[in-house]
Amino acid sequence: MLIVGNWKAYVESGKTAQALVASAKKLTGLGHDIVLAPSAPYLGLLAVGNKAKVAYSAQDISDSTGGAHTGETTGAQLRDLGVSYTILGHSERRACGETDEVVLSKTKHALAQGLTPIICIGEKERDADAHYLAYLRGQIAHIFAPLSQQERMQLVLAYEPIWAIGKTEDEAITPQDLREMILYIRKALGEYLPGRAPESVKILYGGSVEEGNAKMLADATGIDGFLVGHASADAKAFTGIVKAIS
Ligand code: PGA
Repeated sequence: MLIVGNWKAYVESGKTAQALVASAKKLTGLGHDIVLAPSAPYLGLLAVGNKAKVAYSAQDISDSTGGAHTGETTGAQLRDLGVSYTILGHSERRACGETDEVVLSKTKHALAQGLTPIICIGEKERDADAHYLAYLRGQIAHIFAPLSQQERMQLVLAYEPIWAIGKTEDEAITPQDLREMILYIRKALGEYLPGRAPESVKILYGGSVEEGNAKMLADATGIDGFLVGHASADAKAFTGIVKAIS
């Protein structure tokens, strides 16, 4: 499975960052792809010259390419550091005003730099009339429709229902609901990809993944991995998740 640790802004010391990496490196023999997503300053510290099997992701990239854009971190800069992935459209970025158009533009920049985009989608809440399904379909359409077939196949999707983020494992999605959502998402992808191609698009789940629920969410739900938030900033908790599914 693909396990991405989104440290968000939980980690605020280089020493802690290095300790988390040392601990993650011990998990590389368990047969999973481990990707760490530190904040931008720590990417500079950790990704340069990285020879370990742990890969790195940015938490976001700029909507612009290089030039007069104070405060921005471009895809080209991240690629230059040795970063392989970037999370895009995380709900915490969307809450700051990031639109689907901006997520699409960032996706194109990431692909142009050879970074694999991990596109976050997910509903704020669930309504009895299932309007949230149409909402998800819309998020998928905004990204997938304008891209070429070849570009679509390079995306990783992270289904992160906002209501399940930053809680505890008891409040995360149930395996049965997750299985249904993954089927729904793959069906929606069928509008943009031919035949069995939607089955090859990696879909991660994120939202309060912890040691106690990782295995049951991984089993028989059709997901290809996890986007782990708070638990990834704690070496013991992250190790517990990876071991639970190994
Ligand atoms: P969480 O965050 O694991 O803390 O719920 C997941 C995410 O927002 O990526």
